[in-house]
Amino acid sequence: MRYKGLIEKYRDRLPVSDSTSIISLGEGNTPLIKLENIPKELGKEVDLYVKYEGLNPTGSFKDRGMTMAVTKAVEGGSEAIICASTGNTSAAAAAYAARAGIKAFVVIPEGKIALGKLAQAMIHGSIIIQIKGNFDDGMQIVKEISDHAPVTIVNSINPFRLQGQKTAAFEIIEELGSAPDYHCLPVGNAGNITAHWMGYTEYHEIGKSDSTPTMLGYQAEGAAPFIKGSRVDNPETIATAIRIGNPQSWDQALKLSKESNGWFDAFADKEILAAQKMLTEKEGVFCEPASATSVAGAMRDIKLGKIPEGSSVVCTLTGHGLKDPDSAIAQCDQSAMINVNPTLEEVKKAILDQM
Ligand code: F0G
Repeated sequence: MRYKGLIEKYRDRLPVSDSTSIISLGEGNTPLIKLENIPKELGKEVDLYVKYEGLNPTGSFKDRGMTMAVTKAVEGGSEAIICASTGNTSAAAAAYAARAGIKAFVVIPEGKIALGKLAQAMIHGSIIIQIKGNFDDGMQIVKEISDHAPVTIVNSINPFRLQGQKTAAFEIIEELGSAPDYHCLPVGNAGNITAHWMGYTEYHEIGKSDSTPTMLGYQAEGAAPFIKGSRVDNPETIATAIRIGNPQSWDQALKLSKESNGWFDAFADKEILAAQKMLTEKEGVFCEPASATSVAGAMRDIKLGKIPEGSSVVCTLTGHGLKDPDSAIAQCDQSAMINVNPTLEEVKKAILDQM
């Protein structure tokens, strides 16, 4: 049967009725790729997978939540949605609003969103409100705005967002036959880690999984409120998607971390970029910097033995590498580019010199 998106697939586990008109772009059903070369390099026996959420329609996991949020907004008669965003939510909001024929307003931190995400918000025709502030400032305004303007918030504080995002855990359980032992995620607002835990516990309760995973949340050192134990006022990281100092799902994330015997940890920008490069060069998988934080975490904790050998581990790659071409190009060696004249001789020489 033709795949029609995650609401259609998981209709019985989502807050929709038979009469709900679904706004979908065919999101979900993303590949779970088993890593071959990184575990070998680590010299450890682990089953390490990446859930490649960058292959959703707008290139990030946000589409899972946005199909639900926009479907419910339209069902409720809303004609406009709004979000604050570090980029991916704005791209998804813009696309799903276009599909639904409603307006999207996106509040973004000026100069701090990756090029691909900005292109998406613009080309889909959303109304972009740039602020001279960060994501947390934008979020604060967006939380207050619905008292002043007829707009539906589609940030992850909208409960329908997490309902949609929990389906990633369903897919993983269906593919592996049960939950993995560990699930690693990059954490910004902590909406996605909360949604995954919802999905895992829900499937466990109805007998579709024998167990629930230990949940591991990884942040960038310059934007690591969960490691600091309190809000960070001026978050800074190259992983702009998770440049967040005041997570909206703070309580839920602390609770699930405890319930699952999990932990939080943080990584320097250069470690995050090294993990991104390792995934592209050793496994052929290109994700954006924020996403690579999950793999940086998994690699360190496997090396340290905090994740023991024999474990199954899933890392969520939250967004596609093409979202942020600037950071990709900037970290590559420009001198590796060989410039030649357009002759057979020079191209041949360029090849043979490398062999
Ligand atoms: N990875 C990527 C690529 C993201 O875009 C985000 C969040 C996260 C991880 C963190 O997820 O916030 O649920 O803990 N991006 C939001 C946005 C904030 O506006 O696009 P979280």
